[in-house]
Amino acid sequence: MERLLIKNIGLLQTPVGSYAHKGKEQGENRKLKDAVIISEDGIITKICEAKDFKEKEDSFDFVIDVEGNLVTPGLVDAHTHLVFGGFRQHEIPLKLKGADYLEILRQGGGILDTVRKTREATFEELYDKSEGFLDEMMALGVTTVEAKSGYGLDRDTEIKTLEVIKALSESHPMTIVSSYMGAHAIPIEYKGKADLYIDELCKSVLEEVKEKNLASFVDVFCEDSVFNVEQAERYLRMAKDMGFDLRIHADEIEEIGGSILAGRMKAKTAEHLIAIGDKGIEALKDGGVTAMLLPSTSFYLNKSFAPARKMIEKGVPVAIATDFNPGSSPSLNLQLSINLGYLRYRMTPEEILTAVTINPAYALNLGDKIGSLEVGKDLDLAVWNAQDMEMLCYRFGSNLCIGTVKKGRLV
Ligand code: NIG
Ligand code: FE
Repeated sequence: MERLLIKNIGLLQTPVGSYAHKGKEQGENRKLKDAVIISEDGIITKICEAKDFKEKEDSFDFVIDVEGNLVTPGLVDAHTHLVFGGFRQHEIPLKLKGADYLEILRQGGGILDTVRKTREATFEELYDKSEGFLDEMMALGVTTVEAKSGYGLDRDTEIKTLEVIKALSESHPMTIVSSYMGAHAIPIEYKGKADLYIDELCKSVLEEVKEKNLASFVDVFCEDSVFNVEQAERYLRMAKDMGFDLRIHADEIEEIGGSILAGRMKAKTAEHLIAIGDKGIEALKDGGVTAMLLPSTSFYLNKSFAPARKMIEKGVPVAIATDFNPGSSPSLNLQLSINLGYLRYRMTPEEILTAVTINPAYALNLGDKIGSLEVGKDLDLAVWNAQDMEMLCYRFGSNLCIGTVKKGRLV
């Protein structure tokens, strides 16, 4: 048995419990000063104040001294498009001249540009590139990510993408949850035939993904000029019948009813929600859906910010993620999303910690294993060059993470 002691924790801050935290509970964290944590084979066995710690240090295999700094659960980035070919820096001059995101997509650029590059890339190229991203994320304090396909849109590339994710989840210390997002855009071969694309191609790939156990979630871009509510619903129903959990990119740019659909279908999460209205918020609440907010995308697309305060007040659990992708959010830095959550969503530091730990963990069906520092859970944590969460929310542009521990190992 491998025993680890983490000592000299100035402040240990964590949500408590394994469920989605909503309303007032979103802002409730446990705070323990001068604490120690003990783990055995990566599982937390004790958390207490230093004054109550009586064991001899030399009885441990490893001792980490965090020198009075802040410790939180490892961060959970539950919305990324991790695996893609190329980048899209050439779009920025077009955008600065006024080209709009959906217009670029309608003309065969945007997501479809990345689709071409992802189809061309080999398994090894995608694997190496994504592995580099995961290393960067871990150094930023992230210990769990969700990763979706959706830049293949044909059978071979979608399967290749999900196999890259699977291989990484077996070799990389990061916990990775994968989603099939065949319905990310309408591929060129099916231009004008979105219904056929869903009923034919997505259906057969979904069956293969299920059979090979390559994803546990299914995601769809429900948006003007992409998939309408009726098409998204058909696709999600098919997936639900096969046993997948659901997620929906909803009300990102236009409010076409994606959130209402998410509530009706009892999706695990609804993503973006920049344009959500009162009925959409009500639907999320009634359906037990977690709002997955992506503030870096609002920033990068120069859009408004989702009404996070209203959602919290109405009792919708809120999570925050990066949406890392080559178009609308080429940043994998969840610390930046934390800054934006603080300043633009006006969430409190406690609410934000919940939004990047237990709420996304719960939404990925991992709430009983990760997302909070409690006895019996995995020892996934981040050590910060900060005394408290206020500092982490306030400082901006530097990496404040000075140590990441994954399942009881410093990584
Ligand atoms: O979540 N909205 C759809 N998909 C991504 C962007 C993908 C891209 O632009 O490559 C998003 O913003
Ligand atoms: Fe996304």
